[in-house]
Amino acid sequence: MSDQLHIFINHVLESISDDTFASLSLMNKRDKSSELRTLRGKLIEIKKGLRLSLVFRYETNDITKNFEVDKIDRVLNDLLTKDFFQAILSTTHKEYHLSQKANKANWKLTIKEAKLYRVPERSHDKTKNRLIKADKNAYLHGLEISTQDGNIRKDKQDKYRQINKFIELIDNVLKPDEMKQPYRIVDMGAGKGYLSFALYDHLSNNLDIDLSLEAIELRGHLVRNGNELARAVGFDGLVFKEGAIENTPLKDIDMVIALHACDTATDDAIFRGIKSGAEVIVCSPCCHKQVRKQMEANEALSVITKHGILKERQAEIVTDTIRALMLEAYGYQTRVMEFIATDHTPKNLLITAVKKTRSGLPIQKYLDKVEALKKQFGIEKQQLQQLLGS
Ligand SMILES: C[S@@+](CC[C@H](N)C(=O)[O-])C[C@H]1O[C@@H](n2cnc3c(N)ncnc32)[C@H](O)[C@@H]1O
Repeated sequence: MSDQLHIFINHVLESISDDTFASLSLMNKRDKSSELRTLRGKLIEIKKGLRLSLVFRYETNDITKNFEVDKIDRVLNDLLTKDFFQAILSTTHKEYHLSQKANKANWKLTIKEAKLYRVPERSHDKTKNRLIKADKNAYLHGLEISTQDGNIRKDKQDKYRQINKFIELIDNVLKPDEMKQPYRIVDMGAGKGYLSFALYDHLSNNLDIDLSLEAIELRGHLVRNGNELARAVGFDGLVFKEGAIENTPLKDIDMVIALHACDTATDDAIFRGIKSGAEVIVCSPCCHKQVRKQMEANEALSVITKHGILKERQAEIVTDTIRALMLEAYGYQTRVMEFIATDHTPKNLLITAVKKTRSGLPIQKYLDKVEALKKQFGIEKQQLQQLLGS
């Protein structure tokens, strides 16, 4: 076995034994005509013990196979020498990138900063291990997600799953030991406050963080209901405030969340996060009218814009790429990932950004990329870029 391949597999085995393993991906298939596209691996705990669960992603379906830990060495060696040129191991300490060029014997191993700081949930039976439990949960009942006896209502299963997924994804970027206390969060466009309540619950009750969470919402009756419920369930640090995202004071914010804030309201929220120097910004954008309208006027894009759904998706991709680049420009390590789609909300993109550098000045190479992208798509205005004056 080549040295670097051997070292990579050892890192996989070590991360499993010291419980720092987060995920494994194999990609860049050797046989381009093969139906097998990529492979994703995670650890799961089943009755018989720990297993590496590999999802083989084919063109039209996925096949999952679970492997005992002592077989992993051979399985990975086979997969990497026969099926894939590339692999990434994510641990809570580092990310290991392994690659081989076609027709070359040597493997190259590079080590990067970790993007996940907590090991993901390992139980196979997710219902038992949700971060937000339904049982004896007074706010879930108050929000009409669960019944009085703690069962999730049939028509609220998607919402409950979505809330848990969101909390899990935020949890992945947090480093509880390094969090300032009290930790200050602003939820921009909080609506009924499903996520404000769940995040408050997770941080204060599961992670024992002293926090204050301000839920900003335009609609007065939602603010009144939110405050009533927060007082009733004893969430003293959770306060709903009637107001507009764009007027939220720019100070003392450690984390900004904005889920499904319409169109440029997401930009307003990100802007306020960047300007207040928030450590963490998490948003799930919703409708991309500002960029879509400009694409409509662009003759060169008419092959795309004549199809409504493609126009929508293109606007989404361009807008969220600009947002991710602007966040990178302002020193945030940014990830764009799939969140969770429901029947009610097909929007399923989540942007997470964690502050890495604090120079204050934007990094020019990202600003240049934004300009190039706007030029390519004939976009004149994008709210976040305008607000940042870049
Ligand atoms: C689609 S809902 C999402 C609610 C919540 N974040 C969630 O994901 O469950 C968007 C909410 O943002 C509020 N909103 C829209 N624009 C706003 C603004 N500029 N300032 C404050 N709230 C706003 C709306 O009233 C609405 O309740």
